[in-house]
Amino acid sequence: MIGATISRWTMSYFAMALAWLFVALALMVAGLGYPAAHLASPDTLVLVHVVCIGWLSLAMCGALFQFVPVLVAKPLFSEKWALPALGLLTAGLAALLAGFLGLGGRLPAWLWLLPAGAVLLVAGFGLVVVDLGLTAWLRPQGPARFVLVGLASLCATAAFGAIFAFAHAGWAGSAGQSMLTSGVPLHAIAGLGGWLTLTAMGVSYRLLSMFMLAPDVDDRKSNVTLAAGAIAIAVAVVGGVLAIWLVAGLSVVLPVVGVFGLVTIALYGRDVLIIFSSRKRRQLELNTRMAVLSYASLAGAALLGVLLVMTGTFTTHLGAFAFLAVFGWLSGLVLAKLYKIVAFLTWLETYGPVMGRAPTPRVQDLVSEVRASKWFVIYHVAVWFGTLMLLTGHFQAFRAAAAIMTIGLVGIVREVIRTRRLADVESPLRLPDGACAPHLLCARS
Ligand code: HEM
Repeated sequence: MIGATISRWTMSYFAMALAWLFVALALMVAGLGYPAAHLASPDTLVLVHVVCIGWLSLAMCGALFQFVPVLVAKPLFSEKWALPALGLLTAGLAALLAGFLGLGGRLPAWLWLLPAGAVLLVAGFGLVVVDLGLTAWLRPQGPARFVLVGLASLCATAAFGAIFAFAHAGWAGSAGQSMLTSGVPLHAIAGLGGWLTLTAMGVSYRLLSMFMLAPDVDDRKSNVTLAAGAIAIAVAVVGGVLAIWLVAGLSVVLPVVGVFGLVTIALYGRDVLIIFSSRKRRQLELNTRMAVLSYASLAGAALLGVLLVMTGTFTTHLGAFAFLAVFGWLSGLVLAKLYKIVAFLTWLETYGPVMGRAPTPRVQDLVSEVRASKWFVIYHVAVWFGTLMLLTGHFQAFRAAAAIMTIGLVGIVREVIRTRRLADVESPLRLPDGACAPHLLCARS
């Protein structure tokens, strides 16, 4: 990453994403949406999209604007599109949420807000996909291929979402209506499995090798992992749409997707173990240790999914399964990597220009891992406790778990802000001659 240009708006995406994560946790603490309401209720849809679009998708887009150019060693197709995309996504999400609140009777039922939000979101995601896609396409190897499949899945997710939104407003005809009736699992699989999980896997290959000084995983191995994941998503999207069109139901498609999903997770686990065992840095940094906790949640979610299917209770406990996957695996990994990315970019931005001309601190001098680790542990333990409370039907205790997750998150965000402010760097090294303190919310251009 040294020598790469710094993406100006990555910090702004991260800040907005974290703000939405606080909103999601506040909703959970307040008892809005699942488990107090049904999974398909409008309140749950609000919660789901605050998390999936506001938190996870924005954080992922911010990370990709920095990393796709690094992955392919080429500049971003257009740096200028990142900020308008953030504006469109934020406005689109706000309109979508207002539409959902109208659907649930909490706001006037202006259902046109749903298609309006969908159009804004499609425009925002469209800018992101074209910008990152054209960049990754220049050298589609290794992790960049995961990103391309992730972006294709994002297109499918947004297309399904837009059809649902238009159908809710009564503007999508009978085909749109039957897609809304049966296609929601396909939208969720394309979004959580294809867009977020496959992209996170792809980026993690590069980040793990980079931060642990390990050789990259052999492309042949990671290509097999990606192929299994891409087949799962293709079966879900193409097979699922076909099944709905033929009025055949999803009872054949979903088990096939499940099997390929499990194979993908197993192959990814193998690849991650290879990186860990071939690393040169024996002492693991905090971001890697905390990523291990998110891997434990991924393995736990896979195991839980299998157990629930075998006992015929998957539908009953779908919420607990999704909660562990979304907050333990995806959010856990994003938080761990965000902690390190902020430190790395802040270091590069502040000390890169004066390197070799003045003494500079190490990246690790910008953080206090001992202080930060407890907040991550609190967060993860609270997620596992919350999953258990959902499984056992203790919904008040689940709200307490969400409150503890919030405490962990406040601690993590405080650490990230301290990093950005160089608060942990000793005075003589903090700002050598010629170095400028970074802005909190965006990089200096
Ligand atoms: C263009 C962007 C999007 C739009 C317009 C949109 C719209 C919608 C709509 C209208 C529904 C409700 C369907 C129903 O009434 O049952 C829905 C459900 C859902 N969406 Fe999205 N969505 C978008 C993006 C995403 C993304 C990026 C993700 C995940 C990464 C996602 C995850 C989900 C999930 C998991 C559900 C099911 C929630 C439940 O049943 O509780 N959506 N979406």
